[in-house]
Amino acid sequence: MTAAAPLSVRPLGAIAPEEGTGPPLVLLHAFPLDSRMWAPVTDQLARLAPGLAVVLVDAPGFGASQVRAGGLDVAATGVLDALGELRVRRAVVAGLSMGGYLAMALAERAPHLVAGIGLLNTKSSADGAEARERRLRMASTAERGEDPAVGAMADALVGETTRRDRPAVLAHVRALLAQAPAPGIVWAQRAMAARPDRTSALASLGGSVAALVLHGGEDSLMSDADAELMAQALGTDVLTLSDVGHLSALEDPVGVAHALLELHRRSR
Ligand code: MLT
Repeated sequence: MTAAAPLSVRPLGAIAPEEGTGPPLVLLHAFPLDSRMWAPVTDQLARLAPGLAVVLVDAPGFGASQVRAGGLDVAATGVLDALGELRVRRAVVAGLSMGGYLAMALAERAPHLVAGIGLLNTKSSADGAEARERRLRMASTAERGEDPAVGAMADALVGETTRRDRPAVLAHVRALLAQAPAPGIVWAQRAMAARPDRTSALASLGGSVAALVLHGGEDSLMSDADAELMAQALGTDVLTLSDVGHLSALEDPVGVAHALLELHRRSR
């Protein structure tokens, strides 16, 4: 086992740091999905901002990334190493839910790298005892080779508008959940259970970087108060997309792409 996980990164577009199109946009995915979840957003970005460099990262155990020992801090080091190999010195880092936890770990570890931070459908607080227990139970179930029942999460991950009006999105989410890999589930649930409160890490970034805090008006997993706390720490306002739930990037890729582009513009 190595200390820093070598993570799979997929650059879209030429990475040309500090030239032309500005710092690359690094996108970190939600649990228990992988970097493919960003495809609807990157399609929009390619249309709206051709030439923008985007880097997609798979968390340990997901997509093309191997599981390695350690939690979100080790994963953050893995992202930093991968960006180093791409010669990226500054980046706009955006994560959705678990991706947000990873973005905050990365910003705490390497604030000099962060030109802008995007926190979508996530929170800076740590888990309470009950939530931690639930995560550890799911990790043990998956580790024993039993069904961790992530498929049952689909209805909670999207909002009521998506459940009613966007059947193709819900079907896509179900298909992605059906492919969730057991090693990734084990890694992620233990990593998320162990994560500390990072509100003060955000406060120490506050003012010095451009920030986006995006909340889904129908998100049943993250509250208005969670979003407000992060926004206050970062000195920004919450952007609420009213008819989306937790998976904003899949439910409203156009709205998310516009929000990320605006963050990127402010980061330059
Ligand atoms: C996610 O979407 O990444 C998860 O809901 C995060 C979590 O379990 O806290």
